[in-house]
Amino acid sequence: MKFCVTTPIYYINGDPHIGHAYASIAADIIARFARLDGLEVHFSTGTDEHGIKVARSAESVDMDVHEFSDIMSKKFRDMSDKINMSYDDFIRTTEKRHEKAAQTLWKMIEKDIYCDTYAGWYSARDEEYVTESDIVDGKTTNGAPVEWMEEASYFFRLSDYQDKLLDWYEKNPNFILPTSRRNEVISFVRSGLKDLSISRSKFTWGIPIPHLDGHVMYVWIDALTNYITSLGYPDPEKADYIAEMMKSCVHVVGKEILRFHAVYWPAFLMSAGLPLPKRVYAHGWWTSEGQKMSKSVGNVVDPHEVIGEYGLDPVRYFLFREIKFGEDGDFSRSAIEKRISFDLANDLGNLVQRVLAFIQKTDGRLVVDYDFSADERTLFENSRSLVSRMRPLMDKQDLHASLSTVWELIAESNKFVNDMRPWELVKNNPKKLNKVITALCESIRSIGFGLAPFMPDTARKIFDFINVDGKLFQEIQSDFVNQNFRAPFMLFPKKS
Ligand code: MSP
Repeated sequence: MKFCVTTPIYYINGDPHIGHAYASIAADIIARFARLDGLEVHFSTGTDEHGIKVARSAESVDMDVHEFSDIMSKKFRDMSDKINMSYDDFIRTTEKRHEKAAQTLWKMIEKDIYCDTYAGWYSARDEEYVTESDIVDGKTTNGAPVEWMEEASYFFRLSDYQDKLLDWYEKNPNFILPTSRRNEVISFVRSGLKDLSISRSKFTWGIPIPHLDGHVMYVWIDALTNYITSLGYPDPEKADYIAEMMKSCVHVVGKEILRFHAVYWPAFLMSAGLPLPKRVYAHGWWTSEGQKMSKSVGNVVDPHEVIGEYGLDPVRYFLFREIKFGEDGDFSRSAIEKRISFDLANDLGNLVQRVLAFIQKTDGRLVVDYDFSADERTLFENSRSLVSRMRPLMDKQDLHASLSTVWELIAESNKFVNDMRPWELVKNNPKKLNKVITALCESIRSIGFGLAPFMPDTARKIFDFINVDGKLFQEIQSDFVNQNFRAPFMLFPKKS
């Protein structure tokens, strides 16, 4: 079965920060879970390089915009690698393959396009047309400055798609998640859709429009097309693959760009006769130490810096454990430090350490015994069923609840150690000890798998301790055999 997941493609006007890393890690977790579940995954990310905003940024540092784009795009690729993203494709909108895809899509929707003049407000920061009623004190509701724009432009008949979109949302109730966001989009569409200006004529940093000299594409139609460029559009030989991937595709986006993905993008796809994605999932925003992140406040969280300080997996863990996926959160040092010492070092680290170090004390050998009594059976069954409890949550991208399910098994396993007191069994009931340890190895293996999408390096360490391949969830269903284990090391050493 095929599965596709995407991150937004990032504007390259500034350096990557934790907000970008967040969207990328979310999509990475979703991609990794699907791969472990045996699906054929296409996972794409990349950079959104055209538009006024990028052109002006290059200008402000006196650089040629191509050269500027190469340097900035590389920073996003480096960030993607730094956070251990398992992307299959890193797409740049300045690539030839993308120009071809965007121009083909334009031709496919041309029947819905007409020429007129745009006269109105525009926010370069959000690359967005703004209506008069959304401007307060010369700024948009997002606080972005606006400028007056008047130019010849091609328009897409978005107004024709109002009913079709409403019908789509109704027939596909999980197209937009979380549900609260879905309701916002539906009321926006119900309130009436205006035709959308999709070309620029006073400006050149964009994809040229075939046969329409002097016009480049509006950066959002260009950017949204990246999702199908990455799948191989418009190659006719890839048509079936693209269709199948799109139908299973989850677009992870920030809440402020939901409208582009849940209204404009499906309308373009409908117009072009292409399949719509399965879902658009809107995540929330991070503040830093209680304040909006901003260069002038100096509180922008640099992913390289926090990963350097706390380690990658703890940062990945924190971002998806601290808040519900979809809500806003605050990135603070005290909160991440708390999570590391309680959840990671105490709960997870100690469990793995105490069980595996105990095995070392008893010759380093696991002697399996699956002839469980009720005590071990419960832990065994809860371990084997971990992924099937996570799956329905992951199907709705409820990353937070899914991760909490892993921590419930960790807590249950720690309690099991305390109740069973293996250090006493070693002296007076070795038969029972083997059953207890077998059940615990089962739980540690399942925990490793449950963690793997979220904390891949940590999961790998756990798998190596207990000789587990760790490539597919299926492995959880096989019995352990008698074997020697290597001595474990601390997963999360305490900082001095
Ligand atoms: N280029 C467009 C997306 C085009 S997708 C076809 C864009 N780029 S962006 O670089 O401005 O933002 C990309 C993503 O980063 C968005 O999903 C946005 O929500 C996310 N974040 C930017 N700042 C953020 C926080 N402070 N917190 C969480 N995510 C935020 O929009």
